[in-house]
Amino acid sequence: MTALRPTGTGFDPDTATWFLHTPNTTYALRLTDGRLAHVYWGAALTDAEAAALPVRAESGARQRGSTSFEARYDGTEEYAWDGGVRYGVPSLQVRFADGARGLDLEPVGDEITVDRLTIRLRDRHYPVEVALRYRLRPDSDVLERSVSLTNLGDAEPIEVLRFDAASWALPHRDDYRLSHVTGMWGAETRLRREVAAAGETVFTSRRGITSHHANPWVMADDGTAGEEHGEVWSVALAWSGSWRMTVQRTPLERLSVSTGFGHDGISWRLAPGERLDSPVSAGMFTPGGFGAASRAWHAHVRRHVLPHPEEIRPVLYNSWEATFFDIDVARQSALATRAAELGAELFVVDDGWFRPYQDDRAGLGDWRVNPDLFPDGFAPLAEHVRSLGMGFGIWVEPEMVNPDSDLYRSHPDWVLHQPHRARTELRNQLVLNFGRDDVRAWAGAWLHGLVRDTGAVFLKWDMNRTFSEAGQPGAADPDRLWIEHTRGVHLVMDRLRAAWPDLRIESCSGGGGRLDLAILARTDQVWASDNTDAADRLRIQDGFTRLYPPGVLEAWVTDSPNTVTGRRTPLAFRFHVAMTGVLGLGGDLAAWSDDERCEAASLVALYKRIRPLVQQGRLYRLRPPDADGLCALQFADDDDVVVFAFRETPRMGFGVPPLPLAGLPRSARYRDTSTGAEYDAGVLTHHGLPLDLPRGEYASTVVHLERRRRP
Ligand code: DGJ
Repeated sequence: MTALRPTGTGFDPDTATWFLHTPNTTYALRLTDGRLAHVYWGAALTDAEAAALPVRAESGARQRGSTSFEARYDGTEEYAWDGGVRYGVPSLQVRFADGARGLDLEPVGDEITVDRLTIRLRDRHYPVEVALRYRLRPDSDVLERSVSLTNLGDAEPIEVLRFDAASWALPHRDDYRLSHVTGMWGAETRLRREVAAAGETVFTSRRGITSHHANPWVMADDGTAGEEHGEVWSVALAWSGSWRMTVQRTPLERLSVSTGFGHDGISWRLAPGERLDSPVSAGMFTPGGFGAASRAWHAHVRRHVLPHPEEIRPVLYNSWEATFFDIDVARQSALATRAAELGAELFVVDDGWFRPYQDDRAGLGDWRVNPDLFPDGFAPLAEHVRSLGMGFGIWVEPEMVNPDSDLYRSHPDWVLHQPHRARTELRNQLVLNFGRDDVRAWAGAWLHGLVRDTGAVFLKWDMNRTFSEAGQPGAADPDRLWIEHTRGVHLVMDRLRAAWPDLRIESCSGGGGRLDLAILARTDQVWASDNTDAADRLRIQDGFTRLYPPGVLEAWVTDSPNTVTGRRTPLAFRFHVAMTGVLGLGGDLAAWSDDERCEAASLVALYKRIRPLVQQGRLYRLRPPDADGLCALQFADDDDVVVFAFRETPRMGFGVPPLPLAGLPRSARYRDTSTGAEYDAGVLTHHGLPLDLPRGEYASTVVHLERRRRP
């Protein structure tokens, strides 16, 4: 990104306007008529231009005189709380102990530093303070917002009914369109793009996890943006539990997005003196289309979210699809030997190692290695894995318990449950309440011991069911668990990482059920889906990487036919799809032929050469998965380029035209590392890269272009 000017905050006292300048954008809000008006979010302005921005009520009611029906400021407020003449989406809703609802807030002060702004508001009658917080980064157009709510009283609690991290007001445009992802287990993060409905559109998870069904981000454009052009506003929420994002399109064609943790009906009793902090909501304006938006988010996540952005993710082998629950030390050791031969750098033992039976009925919660499967514990396998030059990793599911377990028999009160209600089992398991200190301490202790005793450098942290009967009988404020469970998960991960700085964690929730900016702050990669069918994966990975970087997207090559869909695909196609994320191996390697193993080893070696580009470079979606005939992705850094092309169905008579590349420096020249062919950037950009695809279904190719330095 080319920085236009330094980032920073500012305040113009004449107009009472606060400015927040990112490298390429400006955001402004103003105190006017005793209210906080949102003034601007878009391309960079000077302070003087921002101060001169006119602010007026949007509703025509003003011109026509008074009306009892129009709320003049709906959709244009900086943070839209409930109270007074407001009928838009309330970002903050409370009820006071005397039964009064709604707020009457007035600004009482601000604090400005070069990269942060806080504006404090207090209620004119009740003892409550709201602090709106903003944070800038010098190298990112993402603006981070959050809110704190404090009960300043000393006697009565305040019931908090909705508490969003931010409401984002977008400028007037004629016909807003929304891009977001939807899905389900095995079909996560499928991109949808549709006209913003008039009224309110809610994206949400009521499941206690981020969810497979929606993901906490949305992008809005005026219906004309494309991959490489057009204005795009994006909003994301950094939260790994239940969440809600409400998009409102007003009759005056204003769009606003209010987002926060929790979901409808969840409340929090804010005790006297207590402060409640929202998670962060991140927003970004990009003038360069959806491709530029994705690249800017990827860069932001790498620079400001991930714990170890500088690291290259290893090629791992995971035994799940090879063995499911049928695991033991001999089979795991044999798989480890095969995996190392192919070039794997990390070996991960999946589910089953502690279970009394070869299924999911029992044992969750009793985190002891089953001696029938591993008579001498993990040590012999871990040593074998390390002797092959690989790191040792282990699957865990700390938030879960099978009722058939010693843990549950000793602590039946540790699970989420309601009085007089059945404890509904999903996958034969119940959810442990990570809102409880004793549960957090127990989980932290056994995880710590597992890492210490096995020398594991990697944990796959799974979570295989959604919440139900989410109560904690006897608790003074039972709904808190919806927030506190997620905070507990974050806390246990944070402590574990602090104790074991070399430990890396993969976030997994039955595939991609826990994927968000908050989990990425404490994990290193995400298992994107239990669906490893390469054709389906093209779509899942396309949606995943709209906001999250390819360098956190774990993707395994598994067997053909696929264990779930039965689809047959060539080994190269499966590899090429997985190589557009973090390549992993997940097939039954014992059943692969010599030829397949040989081909696999050379593809792993190729991946190792190009992975810095894939994991840390810039992604250009040249042709999305559903483009007619051909899907193509390009990854580039300042030197090299790698292009992947996929054609699922051949059509007689239709060849593959040259593929125009994107984002290349005009004067550069490149050499194809496999054929030696050389190309000028101009030719690659304006004419295209010739592609040589094999015959048949699920054809694919990868082209690695090395930049030639001119003498
Ligand atoms: C769900 C995960 O997504 C799978 O990869 C596997 O780890 C299973 N759980 C194990 O139960």
